[in-house]
Amino acid sequence: MTITTCIFDAYGTLFDVAAAAREAAAEPGRESFAAHWPKVAEHWRLKQLQYTWLRAITGAHDDFWRVTQDGLDWALEANGLDGDADLRDRLLQLYWELSCYPEVPAMLAALKARGLNTAILSNGSPDMLRGAVDSAGIGDVLDDVLSVEDVGIFKPASAVYDLVGQRFGCTKAEVLFVSSNGWDAAGAAGYGFHTVWVNRAGDPVDRLPWTPHNILSDLTTIPDLTGA
Ligand code: LAC
Repeated sequence: MTITTCIFDAYGTLFDVAAAAREAAAEPGRESFAAHWPKVAEHWRLKQLQYTWLRAITGAHDDFWRVTQDGLDWALEANGLDGDADLRDRLLQLYWELSCYPEVPAMLAALKARGLNTAILSNGSPDMLRGAVDSAGIGDVLDDVLSVEDVGIFKPASAVYDLVGQRFGCTKAEVLFVSSNGWDAAGAAGYGFHTVWVNRAGDPVDRLPWTPHNILSDLTTIPDLTGA
């Protein structure tokens, strides 16, 4: 296996999506949110993703900022917090400056040192991704940040995965695709990439027609998988 190009999902893979709710809950004056934040974070992520799939299937595309707000509004209402406009604003603001997981900068630097191409391929809109990459300070170890907005449909549509070959001029077999979303790793495996599912939570494997080639608990050993 000759890997030339390492492609990463963004939200949940490089960036900690639970960080927005966790950090808001720790702020002074938000003590009442402390009991709710794990459920809000879980509902927010679940609805955000469901809305991407439903919009892709029905051809009703709108950008990831729209579905991120819609998912949050559902989550806040489900938890009896829909009257808290200040909390809503703060959670959305924090989504633009999510922390990356601690191993990410060194892992990406190791891939660049081995001469590999590195990029994000994400549902995120270009401006959201720019905000997250800048706040995590990882722009200089990424060759590019590819957004589904270039094709107007969310993952796991194959038009999204096509963006990698178009950008880097590589074959599918040269790509290592890394995602913390089981369905994204599975979809990319079905597309023809070598895939890694980063299963931080120890979840069961998704029951889909395709399975990821590797399952890791974090990103630390990704450079070892490239053979470079
Ligand atoms: C992304 C979502 C799926 O970054 O996490 O594409």
